Amino acid sequence: MDISSFLKRLPKAELHVHVEGTLEPDMLFELARRNDVALPWPDPESLRQAYAFENLEHFLELYFAGCRVLRRERDFHDVTYAYLARAHEDGIIRAEMFLGPQSFTSAGVPIEDIMGGVLSAVDRASRNLGIDGALLVSAHRHRPVQEALNMMDSVMPWADSIAGFGLGGAERNNPPAPFKTYFDTCRARGFRTTAHAGEEGPSAYVRDAVEVLDVDRIDHGTACMDDEDLVDLLVRRQIPLTVCPLSNLRLNGVPSLDVHPLGRMLDAGLCVTINSDDPSYFGGYVLDNYLAVHRELALSGEQLVVLARNSIRAAFMPPAGIADGLRRIDAYLASIPPLA
Ligand code: ADE
Ligand code: ZN
Repeated sequence: MDISSFLKRLPKAELHVHVEGTLEPDMLFELARRNDVALPWPDPESLRQAYAFENLEHFLELYFAGCRVLRRERDFHDVTYAYLARAHEDGIIRAEMFLGPQSFTSAGVPIEDIMGGVLSAVDRASRNLGIDGALLVSAHRHRPVQEALNMMDSVMPWADSIAGFGLGGAERNNPPAPFKTYFDTCRARGFRTTAHAGEEGPSAYVRDAVEVLDVDRIDHGTACMDDEDLVDLLVRRQIPLTVCPLSNLRLNGVPSLDVHPLGRMLDAGLCVTINSDDPSYFGGYVLDNYLAVHRELALSGEQLVVLARNSIRAAFMPPAGIADGLRRIDAYLASIPPLA
């Protein structure tokens, strides 16, 4: 069996993907037309040409411009369902998707339409495809902490359908520590937590996300490799890191994938996972990310299986769900010839 078919059928979780970042140019134009939103590009192809980013902030400008076309409940439903269908094709059995309500409520979109659209798509994808989708509500770190707290209050009517809370947005000069009250409140309300840290920011931001915010997972976290003691801490506590190789490449976090730290992170014993982040902007869904690191970092079949197992272990699921996911990996491996 070739590596692509092997990886496609290997049961996996995706733990770091932004619903807004799955909006493909064709759908973006369709939604703009549907909602009568003017766009600065004449067609989807010109928009694709604009996907050459200098850094995270440059990317976020385009990403937030794209968010402007998501206006109605049906729009949130359509983009979420399209991602879940695509993820299902890639062998994703559990998808934990970020969504940042502040991008939309600040433009006047009612929170009911945002949550209703995403959650109805999760239900439909579960019924039709059997994929287990889950929502992670994300706050913007470049906006005030009080706004994040208000946003959290506003989604409490859907508390039973929220798998956790996160923190994203422009990282440079926006350290994690001020968001301690946000994460303390999340935890006090019984939610799991995760924060973007060490994507463009320094290893100190990763340390603060662990020691000050006390999050369950770190999104990206690659900068941790600059601090040996921090790596020891992350290994000891097996705090999962949701690494996004093609995202790091496209945002110039690494000059090429063959020098991406993922292999060294695995060798150090970190609980790393592979994810797509914003697949429509970064040129690859989760399977593309697995294939890229297999090719560029020469990761072995065993290492790719470790990454898939880590993704299940790190999911915000109850222990029975994790045990079931790991059994599905074992059953799959037992059903195919041994890896070469
Ligand atoms: N929001 C969407 N993608 C992001 C990324 N890569 N980093 C921080 N915030 C984001
Ligand atoms: Zn992200």
